[in-house]
Amino acid sequence: MTFNPNSAAARDIAYLVHPYTNLRAHESKGPHVITGGEGIYVTDDDGKRFIEGMAGLWCTGLGFSEGRLAKAAAEQMAKMPYMHIFAHRSTNPIIDLAEKLSELAPGKMSKVWFVNSGSEAIDSALKLIWYYQNARGKPEKKIVISRKRAYHGITLAGGHLTALAYARTGFDLPMADRFRQVTTPSHYRDGLPGESEEDFATRLAKELDDLIVAEGPENVAAFFAEPVMGAGGVIVPPKTYFPKIQAVLKKHDVLFVADEVICGFGRTGNVWGSVTYGIQPDLLTCAKQLTSAYIPMGAVLMADHVYDVLADRSHELGTLGMGYTYSGHPVAAAVALETLRIYEDDGIYQHVRDVAPRFQARLQALADEPLVGEARGVGLIGALEIVADKATRAQYPAEAKIAVKVTEALLEEGLILRPLPGDVIGICPPMIITEAEIDDLFDRLRRGFARANAALKTAA
Ligand SMILES: Cc1ncc(COP(=O)(O)O)c(C=O)c1O
Repeated sequence: MTFNPNSAAARDIAYLVHPYTNLRAHESKGPHVITGGEGIYVTDDDGKRFIEGMAGLWCTGLGFSEGRLAKAAAEQMAKMPYMHIFAHRSTNPIIDLAEKLSELAPGKMSKVWFVNSGSEAIDSALKLIWYYQNARGKPEKKIVISRKRAYHGITLAGGHLTALAYARTGFDLPMADRFRQVTTPSHYRDGLPGESEEDFATRLAKELDDLIVAEGPENVAAFFAEPVMGAGGVIVPPKTYFPKIQAVLKKHDVLFVADEVICGFGRTGNVWGSVTYGIQPDLLTCAKQLTSAYIPMGAVLMADHVYDVLADRSHELGTLGMGYTYSGHPVAAAVALETLRIYEDDGIYQHVRDVAPRFQARLQALADEPLVGEARGVGLIGALEIVADKATRAQYPAEAKIAVKVTEALLEEGLILRPLPGDVIGICPPMIITEAEIDDLFDRLRRGFARANAALKTAA
């Protein structure tokens, strides 16, 4: 599609700064304006229909036309559009939502801190952890560990846990020396030749142990991890990884924060990725599918042993000096409650488990594509890692922008997917996707690869 500088879409160039966009390139290319959606499909302003194979940004679990959510929002807006939850005030939807989330929590987590995004959830978790360690009389316990390639949001705090070059370059990050990163649990990229997944996991647990010992366990506060790393390239943990990691953290009195912003609410086939991988987190961050992204909302769930320390400290200090104007917004809470009801009424968690084998089989079948080094996934999340040479796993030079080119070819086939760092193409469709639609998605992927291969041949 050629960009018409006189079109309505051109107004966007004048007024909007787009995240994750080469702003100068955008000025000549123009925006891709999406005007409508139905189920797993969206339509652009040319009337072209696409499968939204990324559920937006890994978030519209219920697709793009769930009328019950629109109704829940409208009803709550009419009844009580806003009230904050500062200083003992509250509303019914947020009380009910907190109760529901603590019922769903993996393990005993009966307290919930509400925010408006995944980044705010991470930021809040980090501040609460430092407050907690100070309150316990362990003020030296400040170092926080994440993994290379991790994505944990993009605020100033999140930007220290997120370990991707694009999130740091040019932003003066990192600014603090409290953050460390351990190896990405990518067996494909970081496993040694002939090393089993189990041995790889043992090695990574030892690396974590060694790091904590070297820093001094009395200085290490917390470890943040997504059950399946999403934006870092859909890294599925090797077998036995999390139980081994969790044992190391327990031994050294280091908190485990499970970042469930992508995995939460069914993506891996269970309500939480933590359930899929046997994690018992001390804190859990969630957002995105909490409301199926129809309205912004995030939350931090915390275990009682964490909450009790925070509560005692706030009593000593007179207040817990944190919170946002829109924390626990009643309209967002009403939408979240309705989303969680739909997941249960429509058996969405079971549906993911039912269709995942088809999704994963069609994904694995793409491993025979000349460009695909590895196909990996779990539940309804997956990825294809593009390589220049399947035998050596060598990558294309960064300037080749190979993953971007493949996703552009996919767009021609009416499929929206996302290039991720490391030449990975992420796939994360709305969880309502049917088996027939899964076939449609992967048929388009095949055709997109054929297009990309043909274009590469022509260019060579
Ligand atoms: C695992 C994870 N944590 C945190 C975030 C940040 O969430 P948000 O974009 O809502 O701030 C994201 C966003 O993609 C994420 O994938």
